[in-house]
Amino acid sequence: EPPDPAQLLDLAVATVRAAAELARSMRAEGVRSVRTKSTETDVVTAADHAVERYVIAQLRERRPYDAVVGEESGSVNGSGSPVRWILDPIDGTVNYLYGLPVYAVSLAAEVDGVVVAGVVRNPVTGDEWTATRGGGAFRDGRRLTGSGITDLGQALLGTGFGYDAARRRHQAEVLTRLIPYVRDIRRMGAASIDLCLAAEGALDAVYEKGLNVWDHAAGGLVAEEAGLGVTGLAGAGPGPDMVLAAPKGIHRALHDRLVEFDAAGGP
Ligand code: IPD
Repeated sequence: EPPDPAQLLDLAVATVRAAAELARSMRAEGVRSVRTKSTETDVVTAADHAVERYVIAQLRERRPYDAVVGEESGSVNGSGSPVRWILDPIDGTVNYLYGLPVYAVSLAAEVDGVVVAGVVRNPVTGDEWTATRGGGAFRDGRRLTGSGITDLGQALLGTGFGYDAARRRHQAEVLTRLIPYVRDIRRMGAASIDLCLAAEGALDAVYEKGLNVWDHAAGGLVAEEAGLGVTGLAGAGPGPDMVLAAPKGIHRALHDRLVEFDAAGGP
């Protein structure tokens, strides 16, 4: 019988709480061993690796047959289990590096390729967002429902930029064209937190091209379970071309602007 999403969430939450404390304590000791990855702007710290190693070890101990995909070390293959864990050990690594208190440990569980449980935790503030598929989205026991706005002109949007120079140029052009039609833009620096803020209505909607699955798997479920539409563009699901999370009352209008401005196009 398939694993129970609530049980997967319990394991995810326990693991992420300890992992978040590890990330926070390493930051308090000072960040060492900063390296750049794909480009000069794409940084990784020793904490990214340490947190990933910790979470993978915990999951392997409790559920040895599951697969795990993590941002820093790639995948651990499963054997015969339908479960795959999706981990971003530190989402918002640049904020982490600078000491800005907006970063998260993000962990989701997929069963047969469908995300059924997810948790996003900010180690600094202790904010913790959770969701199970069909079971709703919560922060600190409070059920989340998004802002429910219906007018794109009143929308406070979150977005972000990739690490590749040509992509960022295109993303900045899209933003230039979109901003006259919305209330304002925030660039918080952690896509998982953006999605959770949209789930609680602290942002209205979120869009970003070029996200990896570990950036949006958990937060995307939180947003979806809060009642937002979470999609890509032109009938596609959320993925590398676009993750768009918006209250149903503005989803179509924002979607159509993003298509008009070719937000999923470019490098
Ligand atoms: C990044 C953050 C950022 C987003 C980038 C991501 P990382 O994740 O979520 O907000 O704009 O696209 O790559 O590298 O800090 O885990």
